Amino acid sequence: MREYQENSIVQSIEPFTDSIFLLTLHAPHIAQAAQPGQFVMAACGSSLDPLLRRPFSIHQTDETGIVQLLIKVIGRGTKLLSEVQEGTALSLIGPLGRGFRFKGESSVCLIGGGIGIAPLLFLARGLQRHSSPPDSCIVLLGGRTRTEIQPLVTAFGAYACEVQTATDDGSLGHKGLIGDLLPPHLAQMHKVYTCGPHPMMAAVAAMCREAAIPCEASLEATMACGLGACLGCTIHGADAQYKHVCKHGPVFNAEEVAWT
Ligand code: FES
Repeated sequence: MREYQENSIVQSIEPFTDSIFLLTLHAPHIAQAAQPGQFVMAACGSSLDPLLRRPFSIHQTDETGIVQLLIKVIGRGTKLLSEVQEGTALSLIGPLGRGFRFKGESSVCLIGGGIGIAPLLFLARGLQRHSSPPDSCIVLLGGRTRTEIQPLVTAFGAYACEVQTATDDGSLGHKGLIGDLLPPHLAQMHKVYTCGPHPMMAAVAAMCREAAIPCEASLEATMACGLGACLGCTIHGADAQYKHVCKHGPVFNAEEVAWT
């Protein structure tokens, strides 16, 4: 699969909350090559400081060359990205890693929590455009508050998905964990895709294992290179072997991961 280093141009920055924003870039080579679940390594500005790029799941692409990243400010690099101006050139490397797989299952569930929802929108688009799209697509979105996930509810609605929500404060949907909403759907599911906090994905993986339903999980890790060179993104596999999130993932079959 082809990877590019591309000077993208910032088209817009749209704040969702105080700490989460949608960064829209023009990066036509990456947009054209990207598959749902893959990621990019992005420079944090036009200068070389900070030197290290940051990894971000691809949130969405389109035919005009747009690449969107949903970003949470958690440190200096993401803070700098939240302050870039329209027209700024940002170097991207991508698309990287192994994305989600879909084999024409007729009923699928996408379950995401917090900023982990980011790659699932691109997946919803990919499922809808597949030559054999699922008959049923249920999306379960969890977050702290209504403000955090309301824009995403609207975005998923464009892909013929039924969307259900859970929030910590009960301001949108079920008050509690998003994983609480999964069990009633499992009997009809043929595949589950998940991304979010590790405990949430571990719980989803356990429910799917018990119900004998295939599950894929997109993992997060600290990444310095994104290319399999620095060994900084290692996780333990269920086979007791080390796996590199940037190369073997970020999307894994849930059964491949040692969740505890
Ligand atoms: Fe360097 Fe994965 S980030 S090996």
